[in-house]
Amino acid sequence: MRTPIIAGNWKMYKTVSESVDFVRELAPKLAPFSGVERVVCPTYLALTAVADALKGTPIHVGAQSVHWEAQGAFTSQVSPAMLKGIVEYVIIGHSECRAYLAETDEQVNKKAKAALAAGLKPIIAVGESLEQNERGETAAFVSAQVRAALVGLTPADMANVVIAYEPIWAIGTGRNADGATANKIIGGTIRATLIELYGETLAQSVRIQYGGSVKPDNMAEFMAQPDIDGALVGGASLKVNDFVALVESAARTKGV
Ligand code: 13P
Repeated sequence: MRTPIIAGNWKMYKTVSESVDFVRELAPKLAPFSGVERVVCPTYLALTAVADALKGTPIHVGAQSVHWEAQGAFTSQVSPAMLKGIVEYVIIGHSECRAYLAETDEQVNKKAKAALAAGLKPIIAVGESLEQNERGETAAFVSAQVRAALVGLTPADMANVVIAYEPIWAIGTGRNADGATANKIIGGTIRATLIELYGETLAQSVRIQYGGSVKPDNMAEFMAQPDIDGALVGGASLKVNDFVALVESAARTKGV
């Protein structure tokens, strides 16, 4: 049984003090749902303060990106070694990083390898554009993204990898994929690709999230799908009550 994982990607929202206030309110409300892994991903600036505020709680912390080098002349970047000890997870390959920061498949792969080598758990995001979707290219494109991200990752690495399927056209638009369609890509494409790469048993153990306009009122539709193991959530994770409702819905729908 795969433990459901709900991660809040806060993107470029919340100051340090807002982030800390938020998790102080959130943590006790999320505490009862121990069958769901709960993760918050604030900006780099707030990571230390949020991690400190969450010490002793069951809520995990993730970063929103990472560089692949250990250190060096890479202005603006943060290395895996710098995140180690502060966060457990790191989002890699988010479509906003791919689109606005020109992150390539090759860089996603280098980041994933570097994160794993440092003991961090990557949440690797993949997903097609609206145009690709309308041209019927979703399965081929997403499968290729998954393959490219995982080049050289060992079966042991895969125990620490989460994949997030986030169709770009569904992010921040209020236009979510329906549960069955998302499950078809997650099970029929992403997990099928993992089966080809790593075999059935390992592929069945990897957690795959859906992301894109996930809200409390559509969460159960996604969590009811057999191949969807949680959600990577933007907007709704910025509100305490919505975040709690998402986790509560996942716990109830998955029966954990
Ligand atoms: P929204 O939930 O705001 O659509 O964002 C999804 C996302 O990009 C999470 O990484």
